[in-house]
Amino acid sequence: MTIEGAALRDRLDEILARGLAAIEDATDESTLEEARVRFLGRNGLLSDALSAMRDVPAAEKPETGRAANRTKSELEAAFERRRAALAGTSAERGPARDLTLPGRRAWRGGLHPVTRVIDEICGIFRELGFTVATGPEIETDWHNFTALNIPLDHPAADMHDTFYLDDGVLLRTHTSPVQARVMLEHRPPIRILAPGLVFRRDPWDASHAPAFEQIEGLAVDEGIDFVEFRAAIDFFVHRFFGPSARTRFRPSYFPFTEPSAEVDVTCLLCGGTGCPACKGTGWVEIMGSGMVNPAVFEAVGYDPERYTGYAFGMGPARIAMLRYRIPDIRLLYEGDAGFLEQFR
Ligand code: DAH
Repeated sequence: MTIEGAALRDRLDEILARGLAAIEDATDESTLEEARVRFLGRNGLLSDALSAMRDVPAAEKPETGRAANRTKSELEAAFERRRAALAGTSAERGPARDLTLPGRRAWRGGLHPVTRVIDEICGIFRELGFTVATGPEIETDWHNFTALNIPLDHPAADMHDTFYLDDGVLLRTHTSPVQARVMLEHRPPIRILAPGLVFRRDPWDASHAPAFEQIEGLAVDEGIDFVEFRAAIDFFVHRFFGPSARTRFRPSYFPFTEPSAEVDVTCLLCGGTGCPACKGTGWVEIMGSGMVNPAVFEAVGYDPERYTGYAFGMGPARIAMLRYRIPDIRLLYEGDAGFLEQFR
């Protein structure tokens, strides 16, 4: 029996095409193994076809033999590629999932420690009849300085300390201009707290930031005296720092108050005995304050013979640092969620 070499080569081409398709269609290792046995196995279609080789005329043997080798090696290579691909997908699938593990908790936002301090301070003064007022961060030099009895040649108004945006327009250096704005718009009695950001050409170091919050307080009415002022501050200090905290008024100077005082409270860390945090004094300063200077009443058109009042300004970031024992103000403003998360 003889077989034409060309007929056998056609048969090999057909086996190659069907074999490649079967390998490609295999979706797991066992169907791939079935395809391998069927096409490349000892009793598979390829070896069956090759058994006809001996009947091919001698002259056609070399060419037909090469065709047979090519078919075999192409099928083997396709089989190896497919096996590697299937192994890859099952490795990517990874280990079986443990559905009994607890889920990941959703990230919950929280209030910034400085915001919490501001809210708490506003809440305490609210009990004394104070409402919250706001003013613009971009101010005129009149509201920021002149109305507050700070002459424009005062060092605080200098370019070295203040960000000017334009002639007479600046980023407010304190929240005190809100005093002027509120008094221009309302008649006494006034009791307001004005929290907000202020801006100074300060360094960025452990105790300074070029933008930080302040809270301004202002009370104006007929008959407000220093005793009422002290009582309000004492009330606040006891509520905020605790009943054992004591207050100390230290004479000071601000152009918009007369007399003026810095308010100190007993150091939270040492309880007043003296430690590095309070530089050994037992006291830490929490605000500037005083009785409103009659010159400010005149600037906003109030009768200084009829009205008196008190004002104060504090830095809630400093107070947050005291309360939470934060050693560096930059920690509060860098926006590091890992640090801030602990205050939620
Ligand atoms: N504005 C002052 C500052 O930024 C703080 C201040 C001091 C505000 C005394 C007041 C005050 O209302 O009476 O340094």
